[in-house]
Amino acid sequence: MLSIFNKKTTPTLDYAVLGLDLHSHLVPGIDDGADSPETAVALIRQLIDMGYQRLYTTPHVMSDLYPNNPDSISDGLSRLKQALQQAGIQIEIDAAAEYYMDDTFEHLITEDHELLTLPGNRVLVEMSFVSAPPGLFHYIFRLQTKGYQPVLAHPERYLFLKKNFSQYERLKEYGCEFQLNLLSLIGHYGQPIQETAHKLLKNNMIDFIGTDLHHQRHAELLQKALADKMVQRYLSQYPFKNTELMAVMGG
Ligand SMILES: [Fe+2]
Repeated sequence: MLSIFNKKTTPTLDYAVLGLDLHSHLVPGIDDGADSPETAVALIRQLIDMGYQRLYTTPHVMSDLYPNNPDSISDGLSRLKQALQQAGIQIEIDAAAEYYMDDTFEHLITEDHELLTLPGNRVLVEMSFVSAPPGLFHYIFRLQTKGYQPVLAHPERYLFLKKNFSQYERLKEYGCEFQLNLLSLIGHYGQPIQETAHKLLKNNMIDFIGTDLHHQRHAELLQKALADKMVQRYLSQYPFKNTELMAVMGG
């Protein structure tokens, strides 16, 4: 039986309005993201279909689990670019990193090692979902004194900050930018995280929105999210700065 309630809503926007994605795990085999060049190519094909034009992929750099460095990341990126070329896929793709704020990170910033950056000398950082590292504000400050712009990945996922919302405000006062995960908006990480995502957006505290794409399930959910009214509203109305990064890159 036909019913107006069965009518499918056609998405009016896709991620082309953002242009660039700044957070994903597509360098094959070096973290918990794409496990092979073929998988990465398949995921990238879907990102292109959803409107993305440029990608900054960000492998984890984490002392124990993923001890990546500029060499392992650039080698992996070369393998990925080769696979993309063989598959006839054209997209501008580069790599930075998602730095876990641990002892290795402290060492990197203390010893003046060069960090892998997003456009505008931005450094993407993450931390434990259980508690903040004791040196959190020191790290944010230290990055800035070295000429980097810190960007905190998925701030909405740190529920210990939700309980103490003023900490978000303090991080912003320290000059830290925030990158929200798209899938937080549709509840993929749970309701408290979804609520925090909306609260941060309502308070205009979010700078960038990213996919944090790891695997096929995420790609399917990203596609599904385009049919979500709230996602559509934010894509059309919220001033995400993703496009600014494209400008910094010279596009
Ligand atoms: Fe990530």
